[in-house]
Amino acid sequence: MKIAVLPGDGIGTEIVAEAVKVLNVLDLKFEMESALVGGAAYEAHGHPLPEATLKLAKESDAVLFGAVGDWKYDKLDRPLRPEQAILGLRKNLGLFANFRPAICYEQLVDASSLKPELISGLDILIIRELTGDIYFGQPRGRRTAVDGHFPGAEEAFDTMRYSRPEVERIARVAFEAARKRSKRVTSVDKANVLETFQFWKDIVTEIGKEYPDVELDHMYVDNAAMQLVKAPKKFDVVVTGNMFGDILSDEAAMLTGSIGMLPSASLNSSNQGLYEPSHGSAPDIAGKGVANPLATILSAAMMFRFSLNQAEAADRIESAVKDVLASGLRTGDICSEGTKRVGTREMGDAVVAAITKKTITG
Ligand code: IPM
Ligand code: MG
Repeated sequence: MKIAVLPGDGIGTEIVAEAVKVLNVLDLKFEMESALVGGAAYEAHGHPLPEATLKLAKESDAVLFGAVGDWKYDKLDRPLRPEQAILGLRKNLGLFANFRPAICYEQLVDASSLKPELISGLDILIIRELTGDIYFGQPRGRRTAVDGHFPGAEEAFDTMRYSRPEVERIARVAFEAARKRSKRVTSVDKANVLETFQFWKDIVTEIGKEYPDVELDHMYVDNAAMQLVKAPKKFDVVVTGNMFGDILSDEAAMLTGSIGMLPSASLNSSNQGLYEPSHGSAPDIAGKGVANPLATILSAAMMFRFSLNQAEAADRIESAVKDVLASGLRTGDICSEGTKRVGTREMGDAVVAAITKKTITG
């Protein structure tokens, strides 16, 4: 097994270092190799996704990714911005299925801005299509308008598009995932306005017939955004396109009050995957040693489960994280009265200690 370790920018380096510490105490055989990505790679090699980094990612079974981006790169040409690294990895590795769980940890119920009764026990799985839609649709660019409200004016445009196989395969991923959970899928679209999403809705409905044991409903994206804050527990598996999934997954993550806790996985059809925390590079707290490494550590757990076929290692990591939370340790983002505030490194050390203790006592 080979793992590509791509820490990236901002807090990425700090949190990935803690996840690597955890990997190292598992007593498993795998190779790890690190490479630069994002702004860090741009500084060193003039490109956010250098050839060597892409090659390493391609030849690995899994990629453990930190975060990319910093405001200081906002003025660069788009192809050189840090975000292009993650988009390039998704595209080149064909990582079309993005799993973003939004789970409310019982001990962190008070960290949410919603009332505890609304989110206590919350466990949503957002499945976001990740290689299509307006993110990657061609053509796109700037030009002089030939029609529209202001012919002759400068304009910019992107293309929203989905092909049948793209929708079919992500729908199947969602129905399969639902079978392992509460057997409910909500497909989120904008079929009332957009041709692309009427097509999406029709195809998801068609594929749904292959899964008569799974209940399927459809919701417009604006209503879904509203229902997520009104009654989030009504959702189980949510499947949607790239753009809507980007927005709804941030909303769902924040509902739990603990975006610093949420892992994510992006898989291709051969189960090769990229694993990253749901949060970003947080340049405002980078280098201070206060970031929460748990989302990255939990992403490593997902990596063992989905790409490396080591469910037992995943269980060990997840149960160690639960033990650490139960012991009252908290990083600043999830800290509340009566808990002990710790930094990034102490949190990583505590997870390592919980794993080694379990290994010794069996
Ligand atoms: C995400 C991020 C990315 C996206 C950015 C960094 C390109 O917001 O993973 O959700 O828009 O997909
Ligand atoms: Mg996003």
